[in-house]
Amino acid sequence: MSMTQTVEDALKKPFGTVYADKMAVARYKDGVWTPFDIQEVKPFEMHPAAHVFHYSSTCFEGLKCHRQVDGSVHVFRLDRHIERFRNSAERLCLPIPDADQVDAMVCELVAECADWAPVFPGSLYVRPTLIGTLPSIGAAAGPSTEALLFVILSPVGDYFSGGLRPLKLLVEEKMRTAPTLGMVKTGGNYAAALYATRKAREKYGTDQVLFAPDGFIQETGAANFLMISEDRIVTKALDPSFLHGVTRDSLLKIGARMGKEIEEREISVDELLTWAKTGECALSGTAAVLGGVGSLVYREETYTVGTGDYGDETAKMRSALVDIQRGKAEDTFGWLK
Ligand code: COI
Repeated sequence: MSMTQTVEDALKKPFGTVYADKMAVARYKDGVWTPFDIQEVKPFEMHPAAHVFHYSSTCFEGLKCHRQVDGSVHVFRLDRHIERFRNSAERLCLPIPDADQVDAMVCELVAECADWAPVFPGSLYVRPTLIGTLPSIGAAAGPSTEALLFVILSPVGDYFSGGLRPLKLLVEEKMRTAPTLGMVKTGGNYAAALYATRKAREKYGTDQVLFAPDGFIQETGAANFLMISEDRIVTKALDPSFLHGVTRDSLLKIGARMGKEIEEREISVDELLTWAKTGECALSGTAAVLGGVGSLVYREETYTVGTGDYGDETAKMRSALVDIQRGKAEDTFGWLK
């Protein structure tokens, strides 16, 4: 099978289930990072007492490369993702990788695997990951002083199966994660959302759960939440309880440039339900890009959002972002590398 065919086929498979054949790997031991190397993707060998297996010492990033209109491949907002990756590592007491090292690992790997980058609307998802490998189950009270850093790549299409369709969310007045850990991109936060998400899918056929602890909107298991209208974008102000999305940040900057008022503040469920009568709602994330919400389920009742379809303003915002990512619009923010 040709390379192009393999990549095209990957887009028909569930998001993040096909991988490029190479990865970048570096290790931390005795207080220093080894230089990274690029190697065939193959299973790691690890001691069963490795810190990560017992104490969840792991964090990751999710970013994308896009094949440009001119055929070249560029990474979107790599510096911002590296900054968040390093913050996550610090919060989890993992060795903090050098920013230049992560930058080089991503850029060299992407350059070697450029053929794995699909044409639009596909993209090449980049997953830098850091795990604590110290074999010591007694180290619950102490950090892992050994670590493995690797970057893998996955050619991807839409995150939500079924293409660009209006999403259905369950509004759930629970916590997504521990309030001070939400901004850390660690596996445990995603695991914590799984049960509620699965139960909601089984019971209501929803795509995601929108967590609203104490009746105030936070985020979903895999994306940030935005309310969008012709003249405004309203979203929760940054605090440690939820992920500081790079896509969220990009959309707010694009929205401001389009002349929209940007409101970063608390949103009550009551306000959301009132907004939904006429306004649009959407989920933003590297994987999700910007997904329009068509309906909400709250306390057993279903509420239509706007017309119930993928909103026009949401579609406009999504195109503006994607056009920059794939070099169709000028990268005036300097986001591509
Ligand atoms: C991303 O949007 O990149 C994420 O990390 C979400 C993940 C669940 C795919």
